[in-house]
Amino acid sequence: MPFPRFSPPAPERGGGAPAPSGVGVSVQEADVTPASPPAAVQVRKATVRDVPTMASIINHWASQGIMLAKSHHQLYQYIRDFVVATHGDAVIGCGALHVVWEDLAEVRSVAVMKEWHGKGVGRLMLAHLLDEARDLGLPHVFALTYRQAFFAHAGFRVVSHESLPHKIWGDCLNCPKFPNCDEIAMTLDLSPDDSEDSIDEPQEE
Ligand SMILES: CC(C)(COP(=O)(O)OP(=O)(O)OC[C@H]1O[C@@H](n2cnc3c(N)ncnc32)[C@H](O)[C@@H]1OP(=O)(O)O)[C@@H](O)C(=O)NCCC(=O)NCCS
Repeated sequence: MPFPRFSPPAPERGGGAPAPSGVGVSVQEADVTPASPPAAVQVRKATVRDVPTMASIINHWASQGIMLAKSHHQLYQYIRDFVVATHGDAVIGCGALHVVWEDLAEVRSVAVMKEWHGKGVGRLMLAHLLDEARDLGLPHVFALTYRQAFFAHAGFRVVSHESLPHKIWGDCLNCPKFPNCDEIAMTLDLSPDDSEDSIDEPQEE
């Protein structure tokens, strides 16, 4: 017996069209000037050799409480979810697309080295991850984040936590903040003409 279907969330704060720059963003977020990354910045699939740098970038931000920490073990385990941004031989950012169900994937662990912020590196990785989602035939992606403006620029809209299927919270059980998650839930529909107007709740195994 399938779980009840969940209606697509109504737009809330920041919903609908991407928020204009500087609107509804924290002071910390507002001083980023949009830019294009240098041509030398590339995005490719991650390899196991990238894991130490990925861990260092992610856990730098995690130590400041703005994203979830990842162990080396978790990064090796999910290495096929990850892309990295490179400049020459150096890894300067990473991000992941994690498939949850037939119609839903999570964009997560998107992080860029501080000195590369505001240069379009995050946007480049996000575009790559969204292309992967489209190639996989996924109609919806979501993110749990404190960086609302970054995702809003890519067309994500804020939704209530309750509108997301229960299945996604499995990964949250080990989070120190569980069950009081204060991250902002955001979704993006990749197939706007899709006649399906809801996200299927995955069945429990
Ligand atoms: C969030 C993060 C990944 C963005 O990467 P970035 O390379 O600095 O972002 P970009 O330069 O590609 O910016 C992309 C767009 O988002 C906007 N943007 C990015 N960061 C922003 C911020 N902090 N505040 C407001 N707007 C922001 C840019 O203006 C740009 O807009 P445009 O597409 O209209 O040009 C990066 O700041 C980061 O690593 N933050 C710490 C880790 C984190 O919070 N990750 C998110 C957890 S999922």
